Amino acid sequence: MEYSRRKFISFLGKASLGALLVPPFLMGCTTNSSVKINTLSKARLQQLKDFVLKNLSPSKRDDLLLTDGLEYQIVLKWNDKISEKDTFGFNNDFVCFIPFDEDQPNDGLLWVNHEYINSLFVSNYNFRNPNEERTVEQINKEMYNVGGSIVRIKQENGVWKVVENDPHNRRITAKTPIELNWDTPINGTTTAIGTLANCSGGITPWNTFLTCEENYDSFYGETVYDDSNLPKRVSSKYYGWEKFYDHPPEHYGWVVEVNPKNGTAQKHIALGRFAHECCTLYELEDNRIVAYSGDDKNDEHLYKFISSKPRSLKEGTLYVADTVNGTWLALDWKNNPILKEKFKDQTDVLIRVREASKLIGATPLNRPEDIEIDPLTGNILVALTNNTPKGDFHGSILKLEETNGAFDALTFQASTYKAGGEDNGFSCPDNLAFDLSGNLWMTSDMSGSAMNKEASPYLPFKNNSLFVIPRYGENAGKVIRVASAPTDAELTGPWFSPDGKTLFLSVQHPGEQTKDLKNPTSRWPFDGDNTPKPSVVAITGDLIEKMNYLNQIEC
Ligand code: FEO
Ligand code: CA
Ligand code: CA
Repeated sequence: MEYSRRKFISFLGKASLGALLVPPFLMGCTTNSSVKINTLSKARLQQLKDFVLKNLSPSKRDDLLLTDGLEYQIVLKWNDKISEKDTFGFNNDFVCFIPFDEDQPNDGLLWVNHEYINSLFVSNYNFRNPNEERTVEQINKEMYNVGGSIVRIKQENGVWKVVENDPHNRRITAKTPIELNWDTPINGTTTAIGTLANCSGGITPWNTFLTCEENYDSFYGETVYDDSNLPKRVSSKYYGWEKFYDHPPEHYGWVVEVNPKNGTAQKHIALGRFAHECCTLYELEDNRIVAYSGDDKNDEHLYKFISSKPRSLKEGTLYVADTVNGTWLALDWKNNPILKEKFKDQTDVLIRVREASKLIGATPLNRPEDIEIDPLTGNILVALTNNTPKGDFHGSILKLEETNGAFDALTFQASTYKAGGEDNGFSCPDNLAFDLSGNLWMTSDMSGSAMNKEASPYLPFKNNSLFVIPRYGENAGKVIRVASAPTDAELTGPWFSPDGKTLFLSVQHPGEQTKDLKNPTSRWPFDGDNTPKPSVVAITGDLIEKMNYLNQIEC
């Protein structure tokens, strides 16, 4: 399918980049365009063409290594003060930047997810010793360190800086009351306490942030149902917060929308409850919304919500993918006798959507994580990280082609876009991002317990990394490693600034395997106090510029 110019503009202007610059690839190689875009001089294009894209070798070094032509600065790190009363949370993941206006693309609001905590660092609780007692003060510290941060940042003289004490700077934590965007109360209330497990996310066409609650059951446990359809509460495996605060598991596992201007938030029940990795939106011509989201767990599913009203994330239908037959299956209680037999109502279906999906024939997938819409083709790319019990150690990127390129189609074709493994030089794809030229950037998520271990299938890949797959020129289609993470870390949340000149990136959980605080496995970012700190970095340089103009350079 030819992805039209108008759709390019719609996609990049609304869904991806927050209504700013129109990307250079809209011009193609020969087409004249009346659209105002950034162009480079012929001399600069030649300079960039001569610049060589170099593949980094896998590395075990405890450092953030970048290939030639890239440099980084730290924008925010754990515990940094962001206002008089708030500090930056732990284990930053998804990053999203929305400028205040299109004439000043380098001044705006940064949203950062704080996915989970390592209690050894955050609350001084050694989780490896289950007999150790904990206090409510320790739990409160843990609850403060998840959720998200809103921080105004500004680039001056090439340096991104936090605007100290800007009134927008604030934290959303596991204690922040958040409305449920649904008419029926859930567990007796229409407000949840806090957000947690905030992994990846998205942006709406109306410029709000989406933050996704992934492994929510690690915090307050889960409600499971037996063969007689009777509920039972099971404890959380990791954090045990339910021993201190009895918040219902049903209040977590949702897509949460945050207003950047005032920090108000709402949980979107219509999008279903599962381990949401991300939420990727597309606005149709009639302003209805299509939202894609993956459930990052072995053998779980891929979902798509299609709204029935303009710009609604409440009115509409949730579908789940049958990738074998290429069909989106409706999770619609009212019109499905199978669902009616097991579940009380549509709210029950949405809360227990994993069970509902299996009942109606959804395809089990190998941990669907990040999802992006390819701006050159309109195809949907889904990172499938791995499924080790099934023998899929390295994962792949799944490609979905919606019928006739219509995002609200109910049929599609699925195929593998790129397989992980030694042949392609990457393993365990997680986050995806397209630059202004349509090159695909990808981070890996090999588990810390298996990385760099003898006899592990991950040994050849060494530390987690950032890759780019160029779309033009001699490297088109190759997977090029451009950054290598510090020890035990994962690179997450790649997000381009609207002018394409900066790649924001999270360095998450450096030193995660540390057992003794005095002897951490990582000391990155080497800021003098011997403690590894999850941080957001801003990557800039000639290589970023080259990739963003690659279509012009190679034409
Ligand atoms: Fe939090 Fe699926 O990565
Ligand atoms: Ca992730
Ligand atoms: Ca992951």
